[in-house]
Amino acid sequence: MQCADEWSCISETGCDCTPFSSWAAVCTLAHILADTMTDSQTDGAAAESPMEFYEKVTAQGEAVRELKTGKAPKEEIDVAVKLLLQLKLDYKRVSGQDYKAGWPPTDSPASGESVPAAAEDGDDLVDPWTVATSNAKGVDYEKLIVRFGSSKIEAELIERMERVTGQKAHRFLRRGIFFSHRRVQQPCPSALDMHQILDAYENKKSFYLYTGRGPSSEAMHMGHLIPFIFTKWLQDVFDIPLVIQLTDDEKYLWKDLTLEDCHRYAVENAKDIIACGFDVNKTFIFSDLDYMGMSSGFYRNVVKIQKHVTFNQVKGIFGFTDSECIGKISFPAIQAAPSFSTSFPQIFNGRKDIQCLIPCAIDQDPYFRMTRDVAPRIGYPKPALLHSTFFPALQGAQTKMSASDPNSSIFLTDTAKQIKNKINKHAFSGGRDTVEEHRKHGGDADVDVSFMYLTFFLEDDEKLEQIRQDYTSGALLTGELKKCLIETLQPMITQHQERRKQVTDETVKQFMTPRKLDFHF
Ligand code: TRP
Repeated sequence: MQCADEWSCISETGCDCTPFSSWAAVCTLAHILADTMTDSQTDGAAAESPMEFYEKVTAQGEAVRELKTGKAPKEEIDVAVKLLLQLKLDYKRVSGQDYKAGWPPTDSPASGESVPAAAEDGDDLVDPWTVATSNAKGVDYEKLIVRFGSSKIEAELIERMERVTGQKAHRFLRRGIFFSHRRVQQPCPSALDMHQILDAYENKKSFYLYTGRGPSSEAMHMGHLIPFIFTKWLQDVFDIPLVIQLTDDEKYLWKDLTLEDCHRYAVENAKDIIACGFDVNKTFIFSDLDYMGMSSGFYRNVVKIQKHVTFNQVKGIFGFTDSECIGKISFPAIQAAPSFSTSFPQIFNGRKDIQCLIPCAIDQDPYFRMTRDVAPRIGYPKPALLHSTFFPALQGAQTKMSASDPNSSIFLTDTAKQIKNKINKHAFSGGRDTVEEHRKHGGDADVDVSFMYLTFFLEDDEKLEQIRQDYTSGALLTGELKKCLIETLQPMITQHQERRKQVTDETVKQFMTPRKLDFHF
């Protein structure tokens, strides 16, 4: 058996790790340790930072791995392993934290923000670039909450939101599509982000919304609308400013596209976003390529963030390798910057204490774990977060909709006929093979993509529940379920297309011009 963390289970039985035994090795080890100690004592070990120790442990871990793969003599491996253990102890002594590969020391060990993004959890892989699971029901979000260290949005929070705002919660909240938020401080369980935001609202203290989109193509699909539909609802309910970041720079760095293409996609995507109904007097949409050089606040914040996050930290959080271009390595600071109100002096009049709330899909969380980690160190409040699940691909919830696979997605430009054909042909069904079997045993709504889409878009709770029951009992056939979905989506998309047609270049320019909004700070 190969253990998961060979460095931390050296003495455990049942794994391949070599137990420490040989006397020769003990002697050699004694010399190495003596050398290390003398060195560090004369140089002043206390002066060495946790990060330096962290790097030493990492390097020694790699050395052990190399010795093992190179089938080095057992004694040599034993010595290297023992040194590794000693270095780990040293690391714990100076940092107060246990060494964890890919988890560099933080200034605030209890903050719990620096969880590696791409850790694989059973079969689920979730990071800003990949979402995949082998489970037909989709990613296990309960597990993800535990792994990312966020908190579930409980019924009680939804009730409070309804009480405070006097409005029925959005169906995305009622149905667990926006399902998680972040805790402000570990030791204080009542200090949950969203509660803090509601406190602010009750006390008439202002906050603002921030969300974004990476413009990787002209074609947006329905999944892309989820955060914007929800953000629009939040903006209406709370009546607060909203900033929307279009990361054309990010897409240029990650994809094989020209800068001009990325910028053009940003402007095109802005039209679809505006068509969601945002109020021009309350919303600022910006392209990074345009705004970064224009603003007197934005780049200053980017640099502050860059100064307070190490290469090791972004490696740990995003899984970057040494051969990544430096643009990617520094990009997280650019996605972090809009979380701080001083990035928009024209809106917030230079105030640095306006709390930010970020609705986003949970794959974006690594960016904001990093943001929350640096915020107190640069004198800003941590942004609060609301996380959504993914919008499943037509083929099934194993992955999310992807614009690069046309059959996996319903695009905002699809005609009524295309929508009908795609759903009938590609939407993964939880129904039975024959009508007889379906009537007898019923279908499985939990894996049925048409049913999942209805949970996103059918407003009527009772109707949705009736459909679930009828499908499960076998009274409702797959064809009938699909028909219901088609009839829900066709008018929605047509209306979107009509609203988008109304959005002129002039309108886009208004939204994208840095200016004061209808709020006084
Ligand atoms: N990185 C995101 C994407 O590729 C875009 C983005 C930027 C974003 N800032 C954001 C998404 C804030 C959510 C919230 O789509």
